Amino acid sequence: MPCRIRYEAAVNIGFLYFRDIMAIERTFSILKPDATQRNLTGAINAVIEKAGLRIVAQKRVRMTREQAETFYAVHKERPFFGKLVETMTAGPVVVQVLEAEDAIKKYRDVLGATDPAKAAPGTLRKEFAVSLSENSAHGSDGPDTAVVEIAQWFSGNEIVG
Ligand code: RTP
Ligand code: MG
Repeated sequence: MPCRIRYEAAVNIGFLYFRDIMAIERTFSILKPDATQRNLTGAINAVIEKAGLRIVAQKRVRMTREQAETFYAVHKERPFFGKLVETMTAGPVVVQVLEAEDAIKKYRDVLGATDPAKAAPGTLRKEFAVSLSENSAHGSDGPDTAVVEIAQWFSGNEIVG
């Protein structure tokens, strides 16, 4: 094998090994209507980026009732489902794909507890949320949901890492 090809093969294997060790992951995020209404998308994005998460896709949309019901279908039997759908369709949202090592857990840590009254200081929900239903942002809760949620809102060529 010529020297150059051997060298390139070693670099490629090294890259794949490095990527595996780093476990670069993607998660799905929504900046909810209470955040867009209060003009907080830039402030929230600053916290996201400071935490080491890269915003690799982003767009501002108005969710339809059907889209919100599909997105939160896992909660459809819960007593708060109707209010949840209403809150998510009350104004524009910003949907995002975030990328980082261990992105799903990292972003859940940045978000803090679902209820802002129980969220730790410095978390997004503690600093920005209004209430349990107007809690400023969503983050995927696992790898399987992240894949499904990203696919609901973005096509592959809209995500640029
Ligand atoms: P999210 O999906 O929005 O990131 O929030 P989460 O994982 O922290 O919480 P989850 O259990 O998935 O709940 C989804 C959203 O529903 C609203 N909620 N209301 N008891 C209630 O009234 C209640 N419980 C949950 C919250 O806005 C929560 O973010
Ligand atoms: Mg959830």
